[in-house]
Amino acid sequence: MPARMMKATFLVLLSLSCLVVFVQCYGGRNFDPLKKLIRADRLKERLIDTTLENSESEFSPVYVAPQDGLKAADKIESLPGQPNGALFDQYSGYVTVDPNAGRALFYYFTESPQNSSTKPLVLWLNGGPGCSSFGNGAMMELGPYRVHSDGETLQQNEYAWNNAANILFLESPAGVGFSYSNTTSDYNLSGDKRTAEDSYTFLVNWLERFPEYKTRDFFLTGESYAGHYVPQLAQLILQNNKNTNQTVINLKGIAFGHATIYSALGEYGCFVDRYAHAYIGNAWIDFETGLKGMYDFFWTHALVSDEINEGINLNCNFSTPFLTGVCNNYLDEADNLLSDIFIYDIYAPLCGSSNSPSISAFDPCSSDYIYSYLNIPQVQKALHANVTALPYPWESCRQFEYPSESFLLYIVGGYAVGYQNLTFVTIRGAGHFVPSYQPARGLAFFSSFLEGKLPPSS
Ligand SMILES: *[C@@H]1O[C@H](CO)[C@@H](O)[C@H](O)[C@H]1NC(C)=O
Ligand SMILES: *[C@@H]1O[C@H](CO)[C@@H](O)[C@H](O)[C@H]1NC(C)=O
Ligand SMILES: *[C@@H]1O[C@H](CO)[C@@H](O)[C@H](O)[C@H]1NC(C)=O
Ligand SMILES: *[C@@H]1O[C@H](CO)[C@@H](O)[C@H](O)[C@H]1NC(C)=O
Ligand SMILES: *[C@@H]1O[C@H](CO)[C@@H](O)[C@H](O)[C@H]1NC(C)=O
Ligand SMILES: *[C@@H]1O[C@H](CO)[C@@H](O)[C@H](O)[C@H]1NC(C)=O
Ligand SMILES: *[C@@H]1O[C@H](CO)[C@@H](O)[C@H](O)[C@H]1NC(C)=O
Repeated sequence: MPARMMKATFLVLLSLSCLVVFVQCYGGRNFDPLKKLIRADRLKERLIDTTLENSESEFSPVYVAPQDGLKAADKIESLPGQPNGALFDQYSGYVTVDPNAGRALFYYFTESPQNSSTKPLVLWLNGGPGCSSFGNGAMMELGPYRVHSDGETLQQNEYAWNNAANILFLESPAGVGFSYSNTTSDYNLSGDKRTAEDSYTFLVNWLERFPEYKTRDFFLTGESYAGHYVPQLAQLILQNNKNTNQTVINLKGIAFGHATIYSALGEYGCFVDRYAHAYIGNAWIDFETGLKGMYDFFWTHALVSDEINEGINLNCNFSTPFLTGVCNNYLDEADNLLSDIFIYDIYAPLCGSSNSPSISAFDPCSSDYIYSYLNIPQVQKALHANVTALPYPWESCRQFEYPSESFLLYIVGGYAVGYQNLTFVTIRGAGHFVPSYQPARGLAFFSSFLEGKLPPSS
């Protein structure tokens, strides 16, 4: 066991390509929530919440509203600036998850162009916390359309994941993107537990609206801080499936990329073996290996000096509950040196830097185009979004107080090696946002995942 554990830890370290400290969110105009999270975490004592382990609490029926006619109302006729001849159906709108507070979550759903009635249903979640799964996940990463640099027209994404499945993008929790609450104090009262409960209520109601998907194979996927959302929602679904007399969700697998999770690497299996299969790619597995691996990565890629690296190695013990002041000073020095680097993808230029052409096809200013597009009133109308005239613009990531909780997840990773139905995959040349930087490999990975196979090796 210890040998295997060592190997897993080592491989996780190797695969940490680049993680965030302080570049702007997604290269564009917004803040970087993951940076904030990591920095906040390195300044405070780390506690691990074990509630996931002993969650055998009673199921109480969730709020379900009649959904008749709402599917038809949510159908998108056509998005402004969309290329002609969409060969698939798309829907978007709101699902109320708490009628008393007036809390409603916004979704965007794209069916598969071919054989959608036999393809699985996949929920995609972006992280943050506070980042929009629609603006980032669908419009920048794996959805069927990308926004042109004019901020008004769309182009097809050849490698969209709806080629392989019917994809549901959920803006979660309330306060993110177009999702809202009429009780605005809700925004600062989120947390992993309520996020999971609201997402579950959303799903049960959404399946009433789209009943043909009730018994469909269902997969949960996400990225970054969704390393919290995905397993916690999966846990809640499995637990409720046992007791509910409401819809049983046919969960078949989970996957998350470059995830933030905190784990006890010493324990094996008990969480994962309830799934048919689970994938974790490039995971931010825990604070110790994550932070150590990140700064090692910067040094081995010549982004920080030997002196700073030595200072970190001599003064930082990432296994202790508190990092010392000297250690934090070295980490701050490293962070300052990286301010011109897009650390989600270190070889990409920053948006606005004209001198260095991108070596990937990805445009680092994408999030600016998306921001323009999604704030056009006719676009919002076509999407059935912002129906209550929210008093702020749509943002790719919004900042509110979100107590970021650590939780205990029993996992083990291996380099494209399956351990007890959990597979750890590294995608070559991918930064934090795999479908943006490596679209073809991203889609190949996703198709393999749905079939329960290892991705092709080239
Ligand atoms: C929030 O309030 C607006 C305005 O009163 C109302 O139209 C909307 O239905 C409410 N949302 C929810 C989810 O109850
Ligand atoms: C759609 O399903 C039919 C019948 O199963 C199959 O013959 C066909 O190859 C499928 N098409 C695609 C594009 O998957
Ligand atoms: C939520 O927290 C943010 C950041 O602390 C603060 O600016 C905002 O006023 C709070 N919002 C509400 C509705 O309490
Ligand atoms: C489902 O559970 C609710 C709440 O416990 C109960 O009122 C209802 O009768 C149950 N329905 C069935 C069909 O068992
Ligand atoms: C792996 O998944 C299969 C298929 O769901 C299941 O039968 C098997 O028990 C799982 N293995 C472990 C170790 O959990
Ligand atoms: C780092 O801290 C851990 C936990 O306090 C301790 O067990 C370990 O010996 C320390 N490592 C070094 C190199 O000091
Ligand atoms: C919602 O619409 C109002 C105008 O009615 C606009 O000012 C606001 O920026 C929009 N908010 C979002 C989140 O789209």
